[in-house]
Amino acid sequence: MTLQPSTGAPHARILGLGSALPSRVVDNAEMCTYIDSSDEWIQQRTGIVERRWVAEGETVESLSLAAGRAALDHAGLTGADLDGVIVSTVSHMLQTPSLAAVIAAKIGTDGAAAFDIAAACAGFCYGLAQAESLVRSGAATHVLVIGAETLSNLTDLKDRSTAFLFSDGAGAAVVGPSDEPAMGPVVWGSDGGQADAITMSNPWPEALALGETSSIVMDGRAVFRWATGFIATAAERCLSAAGVRPDELDLFVPHQANNRITDAMLRHLHLPESVTVARTITHYGNNSAASIPVALCDMLASGEAKSGDLALLIGFGAGLVYAGQVVRLP
Ligand SMILES: CC(C)(COP(=O)(O)OP(=O)(O)OC[C@H]1O[C@@H](n2cnc3c(N)ncnc32)[C@H](O)[C@@H]1OP(=O)(O)O)[C@@H](O)C(=O)NCCC(=O)NCCS
Repeated sequence: MTLQPSTGAPHARILGLGSALPSRVVDNAEMCTYIDSSDEWIQQRTGIVERRWVAEGETVESLSLAAGRAALDHAGLTGADLDGVIVSTVSHMLQTPSLAAVIAAKIGTDGAAAFDIAAACAGFCYGLAQAESLVRSGAATHVLVIGAETLSNLTDLKDRSTAFLFSDGAGAAVVGPSDEPAMGPVVWGSDGGQADAITMSNPWPEALALGETSSIVMDGRAVFRWATGFIATAAERCLSAAGVRPDELDLFVPHQANNRITDAMLRHLHLPESVTVARTITHYGNNSAASIPVALCDMLASGEAKSGDLALLIGFGAGLVYAGQVVRLP
């Protein structure tokens, strides 16, 4: 007897994209009622003009579901076509069950494999890499990848080094089989030696014992140095891994952490003027795992991006972790 190995599609591609943003708009004037800051300082340091936070009734689950449904619609598929669901989030406040299992049921899959990953702001690109591998190995045919965060629930509104930055949202992609290559190799990794650069103020049991909540704390300068140095080089490695020249690229969609980080990456990458660069942080803030798919959806809707475009994606964040790849847009 010979054990049968799994066999999958020759290639994988993104078949559909979707996003969902919460309804509450928090501008810099409102932010300055919480922290000692100014609209000018926030815009100059980050590019953020306003951000989205969840309102009453909106949750990481409701945003995930809405983004997932939009991605399925865009792909022309239904939940029943999915056999894998991956949700990347750090703001689902139940350790178990996974948010992915709940979404897999609510979106109408027939018991799809489902699991969450915690890769912070790199989470969407981590999820894409896993989905691509699942489709090519034959472990799954259609995988829904969701990046979703409600970081407003994990932000200390008195902390002037983080409060203005983080926000909420969800973005999703359906990954499925393709005859042509449409997703380049992932370039990814971690540097746990810098785990303290973005972490939580205390473990939840300690915070609760003190009658407090735990919130994100960040060494902004350390993150800035890492993102503008090491991550800019990783973005370059994504292009070489895919065999794509900068002048063949249509879009550069880095995680929307900060416009100054994006500017520094652009100086490093020497991308031609013809490449359109995502700047959705301006109106949405840094919504972590959601930022790349949300940016892609916005750019497709506005006409800045079109079906078939080649996009360089790079996510990076707490861990520290990063992942990036070149993909063709659906
Ligand atoms: C967070 C960040 C914008 C802070 O900018 P910075 O220049 O490093 O800020 P610093 O803490 O060094 O402070 C510089 C000055 O701004 C002031 N400042 C700090 N926070 C401020 C705020 N919210 N509003 C106004 N002024 C502020 C400081 O008091 C200091 O003033 P001084 O020069 O008079 O002493 C910057 O470090 C950054 O962009 N880091 C990357 C963070 C990131 O993208 N994280 C997400 C990754 S997923």
